[in-house]
Amino acid sequence: MRSVSIIGAGLTKFGEHWERSFRELIAEAGIKAIASSGVEGKDIEAIYGGSMASGRFIGQEHIGALIADQLGLNPVASTRLEAACASGGVALRNAYMAVASGQYDIVAVGGVEKMTEVSTEDAAVALGGAGDQETELFFGATFPALYALLARAHMKEYGTTEEQLAMCAVKNHKNAMNNPNAQFKREISVKDVMESGMVASPLKLLDCSPITDGAAAVILCESGKAREISEMPIEIAASSQASDTLALAGRKSLTEMNATKVAAGIAYRQACVKVKDIDFAEVHDCFTIAEIMAIEGLGFFGKGEGGRATERGKTAMGGEIPINPSGGLKGKGHPVGATGIAQAIEAVYQLHNAAEKRQVKGAKIGLTHNVGGSGATAVVHIFKQLEGKR
Ligand code: COA
Repeated sequence: MRSVSIIGAGLTKFGEHWERSFRELIAEAGIKAIASSGVEGKDIEAIYGGSMASGRFIGQEHIGALIADQLGLNPVASTRLEAACASGGVALRNAYMAVASGQYDIVAVGGVEKMTEVSTEDAAVALGGAGDQETELFFGATFPALYALLARAHMKEYGTTEEQLAMCAVKNHKNAMNNPNAQFKREISVKDVMESGMVASPLKLLDCSPITDGAAAVILCESGKAREISEMPIEIAASSQASDTLALAGRKSLTEMNATKVAAGIAYRQACVKVKDIDFAEVHDCFTIAEIMAIEGLGFFGKGEGGRATERGKTAMGGEIPINPSGGLKGKGHPVGATGIAQAIEAVYQLHNAAEKRQVKGAKIGLTHNVGGSGATAVVHIFKQLEGKR
């Protein structure tokens, strides 16, 4: 397998884009990514695009063809990938494998979702499709409800508190203050979270990621060529994916994400790094409990330690392992199909030392973690700086 690097990145601001269409979001992210890459549209040999539920949100399917068309890149092969909220991460992994295998040298990979075209109720039904229709959704379970079950189990088994969950949201909103592309520019307190409206007990409104519009894209290139083209390519040192049962009822444990644990183990081995070598991580905090379980599953903290580690500031900027410097899904926003790519872009900014006020000092190795459903798909990528033509 060949080494693969990111040579260009572009994303839209995340938020409510009432005035802009799905296609315009794709065009902005795609054009920015190509423009920053040192290659031209004609050099791109294939496209991979992640979108979770564009049919439900805007009545549009056949997203692969739409992306190629919108970016003026016909007739290159263009494929849409779907893995619920991990659609972006899975698209990145498939694009990575296409270049690593030698099939292509330069590919574009993106993610997009326009979620605000429908009511919150309809969005909840669309998002619910990431769970098990027969055993969960049919009986009225929403995604906040499924994660609420995980939160209750974690609280019971490890004594994790609602306040510790709230602290994840407080941290991520604080980090998002320094991200110009984030949906929320609003600091919140633990009291604000605790007093926000109950969504699915114990998860309140401010424990949840929002409903978001946005798109993100990166350009991948074989690393030898990337060194010639780019001043500082960012190497994808590992790309891994694992699965778990679709429904929570089938899980051996409700307090750990096995797919995350397995994908992380593979990624650390592939990148030849240890957990302690990771300088920062963008993890899938679709709900506050998801961040707690992610930082345990990725091995940053022991089982059951995530809540206390968050309370002690170990995951804050300047802490032991800064988690979600971008603001995460909670503060930056979560346009589901785009999230996995946006996480990779944050890794690129951090490793380029270009993240401005949210820069993790001395960052050399970063990790991203993208989850589909209530943990049924997990994708982990590890990124490293690579010497470029500079
Ligand atoms: N975090 C912070 N603020 C939020 C928010 C969130 N998750 N969701 C909404 N808000 C804010 C809005 O900006 C708005 O503020 P304003 O009054 O100052 O304009 C206010 O809260 C009310 O917003 P509204 O759009 O009416 O909220 P809602 O009740 O329709 O939706 C949720 C709130 C939590 C139900 C919705 O965000 C949601 O479903 N989130 C989960 C998404 C999800 O499941 N994703 C997939 C994960 S696997």
